[in-house]
Parts: sequence; structure tokens; C-alpha cells
Amino acid sequence: MTTFGYEQSIGYDRRATRLLTGLYRRIATDIDARTSDAATVVDLGTGPGKLLSRVAARRPDLRLHGIDLSPHMIAIAGRTLAGQPVELAVADVAELPYPDASVDFAVSSLSMHEWPDLPAAVTELRRVLRPGGAAGIYDFRFARTRQIRQALATTFGTVDTETVRLPWHPVAVIACYRVSA
Ligand SMILES: C[S@@+](CC[C@H](N)C(=O)[O-])C[C@H]1O[C@@H](n2cnc3c(N)ncnc32)[C@H](O)[C@@H]1O
Repeated sequence: MTTFGYEQSIGYDRRATRLLTGLYRRIATDIDARTSDAATVVDLGTGPGKLLSRVAARRPDLRLHGIDLSPHMIAIAGRTLAGQPVELAVADVAELPYPDASVDFAVSSLSMHEWPDLPAAVTELRRVLRPGGAAGIYDFRFARTRQIRQALATTFGTVDTETVRLPWHPVAVIACYRVSA
């Protein structure tokens, strides 16, 4: 199933540039603080690749990967990330193209509420994380919150949750869920 078609992907890319820069900046700072040199980082549902572009500029030592179900989004991400050493792939979060225990840090922004089979995706996330690896999932606070927390807790145990405010919005509409392998 492709969630974002051609027109929708182009529209999202424009809106993301305008509205989400503050969120990407915040997440990039988090990744910076939580990864050691040359860590492998995966962005799940990377969309137009804006977050990865910011992370690549800030931390050129990291091994960066991004996947998305939409080939249109991956095509846009390829253009966003031209010249930056980031591996992109069209893939479903429930079937990640990475070996077991190969990822140090997984991130996802505004994507998890769209994943149809949350338990399958979270099991797959757990499979690819190295022992001691971690994930930071950022998503809308009011979208499938209970199911997301439950899927994460079932597989990882403890889920730390914090709220994140976008600079232009008076209410904190984003939640960050943190888990460790
Ligand atoms: C709202 S966009 C967010 C994109 C990007 N992470 C950002 O913050 O700008 C949601 C993205 O999740 C992707 N997505 C949805 N379901 C997915 C799945 N099962 N596997 C991989 N990607 C998925 C969509 O194709 C879309 O690009």
C-alpha cells in the first residue's frame, strides 16, 4: 500500500519545508546527543528526507539510512539528499531491509500513526536494533496514542514519553516516545 502518491508527496515536501523546520532541528539535536561516532541511524518513514539532510549536515560521521513506503517520497528524498552520503530505500516498516542487530539509533517523525500493523512494525524495529540501541519516535500526540504506546511497551517494556512544542503552535501537539533495546 502506498500512502503518499506523486502530488501528495510534492505537496507534503513544500509544507514540511515551511512548517516543520523547528521539529527537524529539535530531532537532529536529539540524535546528535544520543549517538556515538559513526553510529548507524535509520529514519523510518523518512518522507522527503528533510530530517536526514539536517542530521547529515550536523553529523557527517554517522551512517545514515532512510526508508519509506512511497517511491515518490523516496524520489524526493533522493533530490533533497543529493551529494549527501545517505542510503535510501523503498520499504515497509514491517519489513526492514537491514540485518538483525545492525542499527544503533532509529528515528521516526510523524509517520507511526500511519503504520497499519503497529505490533509487526515494532517487532521489526526491535529486530534491527543492536543491544543497547535506542529509538526516538515523534508523532502527533492525539493520533493512535494508546495503540502506539501499547505496541512499544509490549516489545520494549519501558516507554519514556515527553511532549514537544512546535515553535509556531501554542499547544504541544507532538509526543516523543523513547525506547531502548
Ligand atoms: C507525514 S509523512 C512524514 C515524513 C517525514 N518523516 C517528516 O517528518 O517529514 C509520513 C511518511 O510515512 C510514510 N509511511 C507510512 N506508512 C509507512 C510504512 N508502513 N512503511 C514505511 N513508510 C511509511 C509515508 O509514505 C510518508 O512518507
